Amino acid sequence: MKGNTADKVIIEARKISKSFPGVRALHEVDLKVYAGKVNSVVGENGAGKSTLMNILSGVYTEYDGEFLLNGQKLAFKNTTDARQVGISIIHQELQLVPHMSIAENIFLGREPLNSMGLIDYKTMDEKARILLSKLEFETDVRRKISSLRIGQQQIVEIAKALSFDVRVLIMDEPTSALSESETNTLFKLIRSLTAKGVAIVYITHKMDELAQLADYVTVLRDGCLIREAAVKNIAVDEIVKLMVGRDIKDFFVKKQHKKGKVKIEIEDVTLKKSGKDGKFLLKDISFSVNASEVLGIYGLMGAGRTELLETIFGLHAARATGVVFIEGKQVRINNPDAAIKAGLALLPEDRKRDGLVLEMAIYKNISLASLSKILKNGLLNKVLEAKQAEMYRKKMDIKSYSSNQPVRKLSGGNQQKVVVSKWLATDPKILLLDEPTRGIDVNAKNEIYKLIDDLALQGMAIVVVSSELPEIMAISDRIITICEGRLTGEFGRIEFSEEKILKAALPG
Ligand SMILES: Nc1ncnc2c1ncn2[C@@H]1O[C@H](COP(=O)(O)OP(=O)(O)OP(=O)(O)O)[C@@H](O)[C@H]1O
Ligand SMILES: [Mg+2]
Repeated sequence: MKGNTADKVIIEARKISKSFPGVRALHEVDLKVYAGKVNSVVGENGAGKSTLMNILSGVYTEYDGEFLLNGQKLAFKNTTDARQVGISIIHQELQLVPHMSIAENIFLGREPLNSMGLIDYKTMDEKARILLSKLEFETDVRRKISSLRIGQQQIVEIAKALSFDVRVLIMDEPTSALSESETNTLFKLIRSLTAKGVAIVYITHKMDELAQLADYVTVLRDGCLIREAAVKNIAVDEIVKLMVGRDIKDFFVKKQHKKGKVKIEIEDVTLKKSGKDGKFLLKDISFSVNASEVLGIYGLMGAGRTELLETIFGLHAARATGVVFIEGKQVRINNPDAAIKAGLALLPEDRKRDGLVLEMAIYKNISLASLSKILKNGLLNKVLEAKQAEMYRKKMDIKSYSSNQPVRKLSGGNQQKVVVSKWLATDPKILLLDEPTRGIDVNAKNEIYKLIDDLALQGMAIVVVSSELPEIMAISDRIITICEGRLTGEFGRIEFSEEKILKAALPG
């Protein structure tokens, strides 16, 4: 590739190889990172993107090959070494401490001290506030991380990376949990950083972000470098083809479904905010979903979409009111166990917190919510459990060397596939999906759409929350919109238009 020859290479990696037991994650990969540019790195789930970034940022210290910063060979012993020369990373999997405050997380291990050698909270909080205001996130910096939704946690991670003096900032799927306005703010910030000469290494599965943001693109496939190019010299279709290694012909086309009987009906679901101010997160929401129907729920982040699914699933029983009927019978769902018994399954938004046990093997995670199915005379049937896991590993194409592999060792997107498998294995009547394709590559997304379609065809009732309008329009039979906790619109498939749906989801 010849980019603009005037652009200055700040990092050059040469023949980087890295293996894990049973997997060759990277094989002799070369990478050039240009100063003052957005250098995107793309590839399917498991292609080796995060591994490469972990090497550049000092997380992994054992690998073959070398890399140079401004022509000087570097070898980091840890992430602190990397930060000292100006390389900082925002990880794909958020690494904040949940019970500590926003400010404490940003300055963890390097808190400003006062003259008595104690933490100077006032200065620390003030510094944190300034950082967050650059990201247009106005909040009390003493709030605990655990009280933030996942997109807000992402913003704190970004603020933390910015608090170091950066020359190279690595962002591993930074927008996967951000709303549109948060994404726009981030893009503005990225542009102001590149204008100052900072190099951005940007990993994404969202192809439209390449055109909007990136100057250079590097394509990885199965741990190998496939191509690097200036974005203006390569078409997005070509990039996708290089990522996947073939033409994608079978793009998702929704099948014709015949709606069955009503499966679930919810009436006047209301959820109070915690605290005593009498405010509501959800107010009087009613809808029903039939067998073989996919209902999409669209709303901006913070509109109450996640809370709605969680409330139906019995996670907020103490603060919620409303009535739920399943197949015509009223049911009381006060906790997730009751929900699963009633035939519900919920794929949560935050897989790391709610969906997976990271240290446990793939097969154990898959069977976690469906143990009753694989019991035989009260004993766990190991053969059935293994068989079920293998089936999903193949069907979902979970990149791994065996079902025994701990989930922690999978790439982010492949972890998501395990969560999806886990909930499908419960064989639910009603499946609630919260952002099912977050972090999933273009090709695997299509697979998940097909799977949702097939499940509906077989008679399941499905509810999908997504913040990607094209996605939700492609897979749903009907869409309802939610704004500030209230139902604001309903559209049948023939009425779908981005403009109408967006308008119904916006306040005012
Ligand atoms: N700690 C680990 N132990 C064992 N294998 C690992 C480990 N980390 C990653 N791998 C494997 O290395 C390969 C590359 O993973 P990596 O996380 O770099 O992929 P990625 O391109 O970032 O994918 P995604 O888009 O899903 O985040 C995968 O096959 C993954 O299972
Ligand atoms: Mg990754």
